[in-house]
Amino acid sequence: MLNLGILISGRGSNMESILKSIKRKKIPINPAIVISNKQDARGLEIARKLGIKTEVIESKDFKGSRWEYDKKIISVLEKHGVTPKNGLVCLAGFMRIISPEFVKKYKNRIINIHPALLPAFPGLDAQKQAIEYGSKYSGCTVHFVDSGVDTGPIILQSVVKIKKGDTEKTLSKRILAKEHQAYPEAIRLFAEKKIKISGRKTIID
Ligand code: GRF
Repeated sequence: MLNLGILISGRGSNMESILKSIKRKKIPINPAIVISNKQDARGLEIARKLGIKTEVIESKDFKGSRWEYDKKIISVLEKHGVTPKNGLVCLAGFMRIISPEFVKKYKNRIINIHPALLPAFPGLDAQKQAIEYGSKYSGCTVHFVDSGVDTGPIILQSVVKIKKGDTEKTLSKRILAKEHQAYPEAIRLFAEKKIKISGRKTIID
């Protein structure tokens, strides 16, 4: 079976929703390992409680290059069967840009979720960017990771209306609820081999 590695940095609510959905909806993927780049990521405890193996590769004082750090991640992924042939890597609030070498090695096998309707508002504070821009709608995007920031082929998007008086906090909360549905759904589509990539587009079966 396909092996899943989830990379987190903090709260881990997307990770939690992914892990619970895999069980509940019988998605054909084995949640093999959760890796955090921060020792104190709250998601680590959640993963352990759900019976999933965890590892920490602290990035704070790491002096080497981005690729040297990513090689450490890859060796843990491979140890748990999350290989470029038989693995899927999900970035779930992983607050690091991954190296082009990592992207190349796991070509079309790394997925990310972003709290905006890409290509609008890539990068940090996407919900705040949408409010300040005056957008009427935002949402979330699940996409393959390529060597840019939030630029890879889009798998799924889910729309959220921006209400009068919304703050970053209120909008983020409604977007997050959509993220928790969209991410497991994208993983299901991947695991069931229903996603084809054609150039920068995906075709969903
Ligand atoms: C989410 O809003 C996700 O879209 C963004 O980082 C946040 C992570 O939240 N990439 P959580 O750790 O999954 O709760």
